[in-house]
Amino acid sequence: MLKKDKPSRKLLLGHEGREKMRQAGQFNAQLMDFIRSHVKPGITTGEIDTLVHEFTHQHGHRPATLGYLGYPKSCCTSINDVICHGIPDDTQLVEGDIVNVDITSVVDGWHGDQSETFIIGKASEEAIAVTQAAFDCLHLAIAALEPGCTVSIIGDTIVAEAHRRGFSVVREYVGHGLGQSFHQPPNVPHFPDRKSRQQRILPGMCFTVEPMINTGTRFTRLDKNDGWTVRTRDGGLSAQFEHSILMTEDGPEILTRTQAGPQPGHSFGNS
Ligand code: MF3
Ligand code: CO
Ligand code: CO
Repeated sequence: MLKKDKPSRKLLLGHEGREKMRQAGQFNAQLMDFIRSHVKPGITTGEIDTLVHEFTHQHGHRPATLGYLGYPKSCCTSINDVICHGIPDDTQLVEGDIVNVDITSVVDGWHGDQSETFIIGKASEEAIAVTQAAFDCLHLAIAALEPGCTVSIIGDTIVAEAHRRGFSVVREYVGHGLGQSFHQPPNVPHFPDRKSRQQRILPGMCFTVEPMINTGTRFTRLDKNDGWTVRTRDGGLSAQFEHSILMTEDGPEILTRTQAGPQPGHSFGNS
Protein backbone atom coordinates (compact mmCIF):
# COMPACT_ATOMS: atom_id res chain seq x y z
CA MET A 1 0.00 0.00 0.00
CA LEU A 2 1.35 3.40 -0.93
CA LYS A 3 -0.93 5.46 1.21
CA LYS A 4 0.71 6.12 4.55
CA ASP A 5 -2.49 6.45 6.52
CA LYS A 6 -1.64 4.01 9.31
CA PRO A 7 0.11 5.70 12.23
CA SER A 8 2.64 3.50 14.01
CA ARG A 9 1.20 1.72 17.04
CA LYS A 10 3.30 3.75 19.44
CA LEU A 11 1.31 6.85 18.57
CA LEU A 12 -1.96 5.25 19.64
CA LEU A 13 -2.14 5.49 23.42
CA GLY A 14 -4.01 3.05 25.60
CA HIS A 15 -5.49 3.80 29.00
CA GLU A 16 -2.17 4.32 30.78
CA GLY A 17 -0.63 6.60 28.17
CA ARG A 18 -3.82 8.66 27.97
CA GLU A 19 -3.79 9.14 31.75
CA LYS A 20 -0.16 10.27 31.58
CA MET A 21 -1.04 12.82 28.90
CA ARG A 22 -4.01 14.04 30.94
CA GLN A 23 -1.71 14.60 33.92
CA ALA A 24 0.88 16.45 31.83
CA GLY A 25 -1.79 18.59 30.17
CA GLN A 26 -3.43 19.46 33.47
CA PHE A 27 -0.15 20.47 35.09
CA ASN A 28 0.70 22.65 32.10
CA ALA A 29 -2.78 24.23 32.22
CA GLN A 30 -2.43 25.01 35.93
CA LEU A 31 0.90 26.64 35.19
CA MET A 32 -0.83 28.75 32.51
CA ASP A 33 -3.49 29.71 35.08
CA PHE A 34 -0.70 30.90 37.38
CA ILE A 35 1.09 32.83 34.62
CA ARG A 36 -2.11 34.44 33.33
CA SER A 37 -2.47 36.53 36.47
CA HIS A 38 1.05 37.96 36.04
CA VAL A 39 0.92 39.01 32.39
CA LYS A 40 0.33 42.74 32.97
CA PRO A 41 1.89 46.05 31.85
CA GLY A 42 5.41 46.49 33.29
CA ILE A 43 6.38 42.84 33.69
CA THR A 44 9.31 41.76 31.53
CA THR A 45 9.22 38.61 29.43
CA GLY A 46 12.28 37.45 31.37
CA GLU A 47 10.31 37.73 34.63
CA ILE A 48 7.53 35.63 33.08
CA ASP A 49 10.15 33.06 32.13
CA THR A 50 11.48 32.96 35.71
CA LEU A 51 7.95 32.40 37.03
CA VAL A 52 7.44 29.52 34.57
CA HIS A 53 10.80 27.98 35.46
CA GLU A 54 10.31 28.20 39.25
CA PHE A 55 6.68 27.02 39.30
CA THR A 56 7.60 24.03 37.13
CA HIS A 57 10.53 22.96 39.30
CA GLN A 58 8.64 23.60 42.56
CA HIS A 59 6.11 21.03 41.34
CA GLY A 60 8.84 18.50 40.46
CA HIS A 61 8.59 18.90 36.69
CA ARG A 62 10.78 20.28 33.90
CA PRO A 63 10.27 22.93 31.19
CA ALA A 64 10.59 21.16 27.83
CA THR A 65 11.98 24.13 25.92
CA LEU A 66 15.00 24.77 28.19
CA GLY A 67 17.94 23.31 26.24
CA TYR A 68 15.67 21.95 23.48
CA LEU A 69 17.81 22.16 20.31
CA GLY A 70 19.81 24.75 22.25
CA TYR A 71 16.84 26.99 23.08
CA PRO A 72 17.90 29.05 26.14
CA LYS A 73 14.67 29.66 28.12
CA SER A 74 11.72 27.90 29.81
CA CYS A 75 8.98 29.38 27.61
CA CYS A 76 8.51 31.44 24.46
CA THR A 77 7.20 35.02 24.59
CA SER A 78 6.22 36.51 21.25
CA ILE A 79 5.22 40.19 21.16
CA ASN A 80 3.24 41.95 18.36
CA ASP A 81 4.98 41.15 15.03
CA VAL A 82 6.77 38.16 16.56
CA ILE A 83 4.95 35.05 15.34
CA CYS A 84 6.57 32.46 17.59
CA HIS A 85 9.73 31.39 19.48
CA GLY A 86 10.41 34.84 20.94
CA ILE A 87 13.10 34.51 23.63
CA PRO A 88 12.26 36.03 27.02
CA ASP A 89 14.54 38.95 27.91
CA ASP A 90 14.36 42.32 29.70
CA THR A 91 11.63 43.69 27.41
CA GLN A 92 8.75 45.18 29.41
CA LEU A 93 5.18 44.59 28.28
CA VAL A 94 3.43 47.89 27.59
CA GLU A 95 -0.20 48.91 27.11
CA GLY A 96 -1.41 47.97 23.63
CA ASP A 97 0.96 44.99 23.15
CA ILE A 98 -0.25 41.53 22.32
CA VAL A 99 2.02 38.78 23.66
CA ASN A 100 1.85 35.05 23.15
CA VAL A 101 3.18 32.95 26.02
CA ASP A 102 3.90 29.37 24.92
CA ILE A 103 4.62 26.87 27.69
CA THR A 104 5.58 23.21 27.47
CA SER A 105 6.17 20.96 30.50
CA VAL A 106 7.55 17.46 30.88
CA VAL A 107 5.63 15.57 33.57
CA ASP A 108 7.03 12.11 34.34
CA GLY A 109 8.34 11.91 30.79
CA TRP A 110 5.12 13.09 29.08
CA HIS A 111 4.49 16.50 27.48
CA GLY A 112 1.84 19.19 27.86
CA ASP A 113 2.06 22.08 25.35
CA GLN A 114 -0.14 25.17 25.10
CA SER A 115 -0.07 28.89 24.43
CA GLU A 116 -2.27 31.94 24.81
CA THR A 117 -2.06 35.44 23.39
CA PHE A 118 -2.64 38.14 26.00
CA ILE A 119 -3.82 41.67 25.27
CA ILE A 120 -1.97 44.16 27.48
CA GLY A 121 -4.27 46.91 28.71
CA LYS A 122 -6.26 48.68 26.00
CA ALA A 123 -5.22 47.64 22.49
CA SER A 124 -6.07 48.58 18.89
CA GLU A 125 -9.12 47.12 17.15
CA GLU A 126 -6.75 45.26 14.84
CA ALA A 127 -4.81 43.71 17.73
CA ILE A 128 -8.04 42.54 19.34
CA ALA A 129 -9.39 41.20 16.04
CA VAL A 130 -6.33 39.11 15.22
CA THR A 131 -6.20 37.73 18.76
CA GLN A 132 -9.90 36.83 18.56
CA ALA A 133 -9.36 35.23 15.14
CA ALA A 134 -6.53 32.99 16.38
CA PHE A 135 -8.61 31.89 19.37
CA ASP A 136 -11.72 31.21 17.30
CA CYS A 137 -9.73 29.39 14.60
CA LEU A 138 -8.27 27.07 17.25
CA HIS A 139 -11.66 26.24 18.75
CA LEU A 140 -13.44 25.89 15.40
CA ALA A 141 -10.76 23.41 14.32
CA ILE A 142 -11.12 21.42 17.55
CA ALA A 143 -14.91 21.40 17.17
CA ALA A 144 -14.53 19.96 13.66
CA LEU A 145 -12.54 16.92 14.90
CA GLU A 146 -14.07 13.45 15.01
CA PRO A 147 -12.47 10.05 15.54
CA GLY A 148 -11.17 8.90 12.14
CA CYS A 149 -11.27 12.36 10.54
CA THR A 150 -8.32 13.46 8.42
CA VAL A 151 -5.70 15.89 9.73
CA SER A 152 -6.64 18.23 6.86
CA ILE A 153 -9.97 19.15 8.48
CA ILE A 154 -7.86 21.35 10.79
CA GLY A 155 -6.19 23.32 8.01
CA ASP A 156 -9.37 23.56 5.96
CA THR A 157 -11.27 25.02 8.92
CA ILE A 158 -8.55 27.46 9.98
CA VAL A 159 -7.76 28.87 6.53
CA ALA A 160 -11.46 29.35 5.72
CA GLU A 161 -12.12 31.26 8.93
CA ALA A 162 -8.92 33.35 8.90
CA HIS A 163 -9.42 34.39 5.26
CA ARG A 164 -13.08 35.19 5.91
CA ARG A 165 -11.83 37.73 8.48
CA GLY A 166 -9.18 39.15 6.14
CA PHE A 167 -6.21 37.54 7.88
CA SER A 168 -3.53 35.08 6.76
CA VAL A 169 -2.27 31.76 8.15
CA VAL A 170 1.41 30.97 8.77
CA ARG A 171 2.65 27.83 7.00
CA GLU A 172 6.25 27.38 8.09
CA TYR A 173 5.37 26.39 11.67
CA VAL A 174 2.78 23.71 12.37
CA GLY A 175 1.13 21.68 15.10
CA HIS A 176 2.60 18.30 15.95
CA GLY A 177 2.11 14.95 17.58
CA LEU A 178 2.93 15.03 21.30
CA GLY A 179 3.62 12.34 23.88
CA GLN A 180 6.89 11.11 25.31
CA SER A 181 8.46 13.30 22.62
CA PHE A 182 7.96 17.07 22.32
CA HIS A 183 7.54 16.88 18.55
CA GLN A 184 6.53 13.63 16.81
CA PRO A 185 4.29 12.59 13.92
CA PRO A 186 1.85 13.64 12.67
CA ASN A 187 2.59 17.12 11.37
CA VAL A 188 -0.52 19.23 11.88
CA PRO A 189 -0.46 22.04 9.30
CA HIS A 190 -2.93 24.87 9.81
CA PHE A 191 -3.51 25.00 6.04
CA PRO A 192 -4.65 22.13 3.84
CA ASP A 193 -1.88 20.11 2.21
CA ARG A 194 -1.79 16.83 0.32
CA LYS A 195 -0.19 14.77 3.07
CA SER A 196 -2.67 15.84 5.75
CA ARG A 197 -5.54 14.71 3.47
CA GLN A 198 -4.22 11.17 3.74
CA GLN A 199 -3.62 11.03 7.48
CA ARG A 200 -6.33 10.01 9.90
CA ILE A 201 -6.73 11.05 13.53
CA LEU A 202 -7.53 7.87 15.42
CA PRO A 203 -8.55 7.31 19.06
CA GLY A 204 -5.43 7.33 21.24
CA MET A 205 -3.58 9.98 19.21
CA CYS A 206 -2.27 13.14 20.92
CA PHE A 207 -1.30 16.26 19.02
CA THR A 208 -1.36 20.04 19.18
CA VAL A 209 -3.37 22.59 17.22
CA GLU A 210 -1.64 25.99 17.31
CA PRO A 211 -2.66 28.35 14.51
CA MET A 212 -0.55 31.48 13.95
CA ILE A 213 -2.71 34.18 12.34
CA ASN A 214 -1.29 37.37 10.77
CA THR A 215 -2.95 40.68 9.97
CA GLY A 216 -0.92 41.10 6.75
CA THR A 217 1.23 38.68 4.79
CA ARG A 218 1.57 35.06 5.94
CA PHE A 219 5.30 35.13 5.15
CA THR A 220 7.87 34.92 7.93
CA ARG A 221 11.42 36.00 8.64
CA LEU A 222 13.76 34.24 11.07
CA ASP A 223 15.99 36.50 13.21
CA LYS A 224 19.55 35.94 12.01
CA ASN A 225 21.10 37.06 15.28
CA ASP A 226 19.40 34.74 17.75
CA GLY A 227 18.38 32.00 15.30
CA TRP A 228 14.95 31.61 16.98
CA THR A 229 12.69 34.66 16.84
CA VAL A 230 10.21 34.41 13.95
CA ARG A 231 8.62 37.67 12.76
CA THR A 232 6.07 38.63 10.14
CA ARG A 233 7.88 39.73 7.00
CA ASP A 234 5.78 42.89 6.68
CA GLY A 235 5.83 43.89 10.35
CA GLY A 236 2.11 43.15 10.78
CA LEU A 237 0.70 41.68 13.98
CA SER A 238 0.52 37.94 14.68
CA ALA A 239 -1.50 36.03 17.29
CA GLN A 240 -1.58 32.37 18.30
CA PHE A 241 -3.36 29.98 20.63
CA GLU A 242 -2.41 26.35 21.26
CA HIS A 243 -3.93 23.37 23.02
CA SER A 244 -2.85 19.75 23.41
CA ILE A 245 -5.58 17.39 22.22
CA LEU A 246 -6.29 13.70 22.82
CA MET A 247 -8.58 12.01 20.32
CA THR A 248 -10.86 9.52 22.08
CA GLU A 249 -13.51 7.13 20.82
CA ASP A 250 -16.06 9.83 21.73
CA GLY A 251 -14.30 12.81 20.14
CA PRO A 252 -11.53 15.28 20.97
CA GLU A 253 -10.51 15.98 24.57
CA ILE A 254 -8.65 19.24 25.29
CA LEU A 255 -5.90 18.21 27.70
CA THR A 256 -4.64 21.73 28.50
CA ARG A 257 -7.89 23.45 29.48
CA THR A 258 -9.02 24.53 32.95
CA GLN A 259 -12.11 26.38 34.10
CA ALA A 260 -10.02 29.51 34.74
CA GLY A 261 -8.83 29.84 31.15
CA PRO A 262 -10.72 31.37 28.21
CA GLN A 263 -13.50 29.00 27.07
CA PRO A 264 -14.71 28.53 23.47
CA GLY A 265 -16.82 31.58 22.58
CA HIS A 266 -14.73 33.89 24.80
CA SER A 267 -14.69 37.52 23.64
CA PHE A 268 -11.44 39.54 23.81
CA GLY A 269 -12.93 43.03 23.42
CA ASN A 270 -11.68 46.08 25.39
CA SER A 271 -13.53 46.08 28.68
N1 MF3 B 1 6.13 25.25 22.26
C1 MF3 B 1 6.45 25.36 20.85
C2 MF3 B 1 5.44 24.49 20.14
O1 MF3 B 1 4.29 24.71 20.34
C3 MF3 B 1 7.83 24.93 20.53
C4 MF3 B 1 8.87 25.79 21.13
S1 MF3 B 1 10.39 25.12 20.79
C5 MF3 B 1 11.46 26.26 21.35
O2 MF3 B 1 5.73 23.56 19.44
F1 MF3 B 1 12.62 25.68 21.30
F2 MF3 B 1 11.39 27.34 20.59
F3 MF3 B 1 11.16 26.60 22.58
CO1 CO C 1 3.31 22.89 20.11
CO1 CO D 1 3.79 25.34 22.28
